[in-house]
Amino acid sequence: MANRRWKWWVAKPLVFLACLAPISYLLYLGFTAQFSPNPVEDITNGTGVWTLRFIMITLAITPIRRITGWQSPVRFRRMTGLFALFYGILHFITYIWLDQALDWPGIVKDIPKRPFITMGFTAFVLMIPLALTSTKKWIGRLGGKRWQLLHRLIYISGIAAVIHYVWKVKLDATNPIRYGLLLAVLLGIRVWFALRPRLSHSKDVVSASFRP
Ligand code: HEM
Repeated sequence: MANRRWKWWVAKPLVFLACLAPISYLLYLGFTAQFSPNPVEDITNGTGVWTLRFIMITLAITPIRRITGWQSPVRFRRMTGLFALFYGILHFITYIWLDQALDWPGIVKDIPKRPFITMGFTAFVLMIPLALTSTKKWIGRLGGKRWQLLHRLIYISGIAAVIHYVWKVKLDATNPIRYGLLLAVLLGIRVWFALRPRLSHSKDVVSASFRP
């Protein structure tokens, strides 16, 4: 027990530092003048893709536990989810500040006007209630079932994020499609585990009714 707690206290800061690696790398590229001639695009794309990766990492934790029985990553699910929001906030700030130069009337017009921005905005907004209710206090307040139902919004956010990416890349959609396939697999595993007890129950009922 003490050994497990010790491991947790070592692993937690290490995972936290690993989650900061993408932003550290972007800062490094910035300070060493290694961005392309369009640094705003580099920063928007860099933060965008890491938001999506953290959504995928967060979504992968439960299926990994279900399939392998490995419990430890579950402890990091809140952290990776909050990092998804952190990179999403950086991505959004890059858009409103560096891309749109804080032109608020322009931003308000742009979000509903360009479908890929509308999708990104939807994905981002859906992450906010999840982050706000990610504490134990909120699990208690909402009750396990309602909390779980609310936290399924992460799938809608993931789907909207993939559509945002597909619509953003006009020519080669290979990368966004890869993320889409990964999301479909993760969702499929969840649905399979959710339906399995019902399927095996109905199988039992059928075989019981055919018993002589
Ligand atoms: C969950 C939320 C979001 C995710 C996961 C996400 C993800 C992404 C990804 C993966 C890219 C493309 C990266 C690449 O081509 O390498 C991207 C680009 C972009 N995103 Fe998002 N995004 C999100 C929210 C938003 C929001 C809220 C906005 C603005 C309202 C936005 C605006 C943009 C823009 C303008 C680009 C294109 C950058 C350029 O090519 O200059 N995104 N995003």
